[in-house]
Amino acid sequence: MTEINSVTTLTHDGDVAVITLNSPPVNALSGNVRQGLYDGFKAAGASDAKAIVLICEGRTFIAGADISEFGAAAGTPTASLFDVQDMMENAKVPVVAAIHGTALGGGLEVALCAHYRVAVPSARLGLPEVALGLLPGAGGTQRLPRVVGVETALEMMTSGRHVPAPEAAKLGLVDELAEEGKLKEAALAFANKCVAENKPLVKISENNTKLEAARGKPEIFAAFRKANARKFRGFAAPEANIKCIEAAVNSASFDEGLKAERKLFGELMMGSQSAAQRYYFFAERQAQKIPGIADDIPLRPIKKVGVIGAGTMGGGIAMNFANVGIPVVIVEQQQAPLDKGLATIRSNYERSRTAKPEETAKRISLITGSLSMEEAFADVDLVIEAVFERMDIKKDIFTKLDAICKPGAILATNTSGLNIDEIASVTKRPQDVIGLHFFSPANVMKLLEIVRADHTADDVIMTSMKLSKQIGKIAALVGVCPGFVGNRILGQRQREAQKLVLEGAMPWDVDRVLYDFGFPMGPFAMSDLAGLDIGWVKEKSNGETIRDVLCEADRRGQKTGAGYYDYDENRNAQPSAFTEKVIHDFIVKSGANPRKIDDEEILERCIYPMINEAVKILEEGKAIRASDIDVVWVNGYGWPVYRGGPMFYGDLIGGPAVVLKKMQEFEAKMGDQFKPAALLEKLVAEGKKFSDLKG
Ligand code: CAA
Repeated sequence: MTEINSVTTLTHDGDVAVITLNSPPVNALSGNVRQGLYDGFKAAGASDAKAIVLICEGRTFIAGADISEFGAAAGTPTASLFDVQDMMENAKVPVVAAIHGTALGGGLEVALCAHYRVAVPSARLGLPEVALGLLPGAGGTQRLPRVVGVETALEMMTSGRHVPAPEAAKLGLVDELAEEGKLKEAALAFANKCVAENKPLVKISENNTKLEAARGKPEIFAAFRKANARKFRGFAAPEANIKCIEAAVNSASFDEGLKAERKLFGELMMGSQSAAQRYYFFAERQAQKIPGIADDIPLRPIKKVGVIGAGTMGGGIAMNFANVGIPVVIVEQQQAPLDKGLATIRSNYERSRTAKPEETAKRISLITGSLSMEEAFADVDLVIEAVFERMDIKKDIFTKLDAICKPGAILATNTSGLNIDEIASVTKRPQDVIGLHFFSPANVMKLLEIVRADHTADDVIMTSMKLSKQIGKIAALVGVCPGFVGNRILGQRQREAQKLVLEGAMPWDVDRVLYDFGFPMGPFAMSDLAGLDIGWVKEKSNGETIRDVLCEADRRGQKTGAGYYDYDENRNAQPSAFTEKVIHDFIVKSGANPRKIDDEEILERCIYPMINEAVKILEEGKAIRASDIDVVWVNGYGWPVYRGGPMFYGDLIGGPAVVLKKMQEFEAKMGDQFKPAALLEKLVAEGKKFSDLKG
């Protein structure tokens, strides 16, 4: 065995040279890896090997470029990815890439320079750069459509989808599927077969057949852009990916296409969107790390889950566990709501069709119902309460759980803002009590706020964090405070949106500004969608707020055809003259003078107080680090990921000094609600950024 460098070895197996990479955790293409590959291929090429296999140790094949290198200062000069690719593609003997785990981004781009690819069925292949606000910048945009065709390449590159190996084999991306666990043997056998059969050294860059099929058909691209306009709104990267494939089709040569790719890659790399999306990639992973708790702390096994409440929330929560094979028992007080809840779960599964019918049936069978907590919860490892938001009801439930559940069971509440310490205080085991705040619809929304109460044990926190990953959620650990992190910050935006309307902006002005910023919808459109009458009581309504008056006029949102907006039969929203009059009457009654409010003020009034509140949350220790707040807002509240989150955005627009100045201005004009956080002033005094708040 020859050690090429610290992450690369070269061995020989008969006539085949085997280059093995071992650079944990994911064999990303750092400088060291690129140099190892370059030197490895050079040495293999100079040996008497008749074929070369590239294989990786550890959990995966190369999962892409090393994202942490992007934007960082250049280190010691090393071989570039292009050098490595040239060396592979122009090797004099067949090169076979042996793929397990994931071949993503630069990893797939490397594999596409091998003459052949062998993969185990569990492997996944893709060009996910779009998710980082980028495009595949190492020839992937030019090679992929040459293999899979233009339409499939458009879909793969703009979605970033990780394609399972069996599908990749059908698409021609993989030449042979190996038996699981026998990758090396299969790759060696394939390499020997190449030699024995004198198979050609296939260079993807030289095969234009699939591109020619799309030449002179701009309608392919026009139709794709049109069909995906909503999905791509606001993002720069999907369009740049499409342009690269257009360049592949229309360029006179592979090299000309590469030039277009390089140029567009550079533009994206320099832009703020990719910076935000790359930051966000690490923010999500950082959020899983809890200072003071070892990552390998023994976890509590979760083999069976109980849920209290068969409503929309309880049902959605239950589905998450059934989806990963964990049995769930739901408890309700009455048979009718229990039956209704279970029926809703069934129909949700049947409608969503995300799994094969037999898998769907299995998931449904894992969710059972009961009318008795005593019977249902004696053996559960985790119970999640998802009932009405009233402290007395929650306390009553936790008193019972304390008496019923086995020692060590985790007792969780899905409260969206009640004091969990108070809930825990009725039990004799506050160390087992935690908040698991799911977002509605709980089977769809990615965010999970995990709420640490005063006495919550470390292993309960870590078990919850790991469980969240198992059920496909993105978790952030937060502390007990009204509204926790997400809703507490949302409260600022809601307040300002309402106030702006009473000062002269129309709801559709506020919504438009926030929509253009990148939110899926503004607060008023959101209220109409959710129903204006949530929490509204007809008997107590006395026209005190705009919402009261709208509900009294039976304008309760989309479901009644009118709310803040008027809706046509297809639920298309139109500004409403009725709402405008209601607002006008309120302003007149208050004696205020409506004024013209420009878009800039709307945005600043909505966003700056959110950033200020986030800083207060950090100051109080209710979130660990600034980036956790961004994880909450991107995942749970539709903050556009290409703006990173409120904290990243705060730095992007100039940092704490800019936010402080604006908050002081607002405070002077409009009072205490805009009082800057003490920590904001401290950051400015110390010349720090929001991203310096790292916990
Ligand atoms: N660069 C640097 N670090 C990476 C990385 C990458 N490409 N991919 C993953 N990591 C790191 C993660 O930050 C994480 O580090 P910590 O343990 O310190 O938090 C560790 O590897 C494990 O990652 P995950 O927790 O995400 O592990 P997973 O098993 O859940 O997922 C994965 C594995 C599917 C590979 C996932 O990490 C992933 O999707 N990675 C990104 C893949 C990607 O986008 N590749 C394209 C890169 S851009 C490119 O290649 C441009 C080009 O054209 C040259």
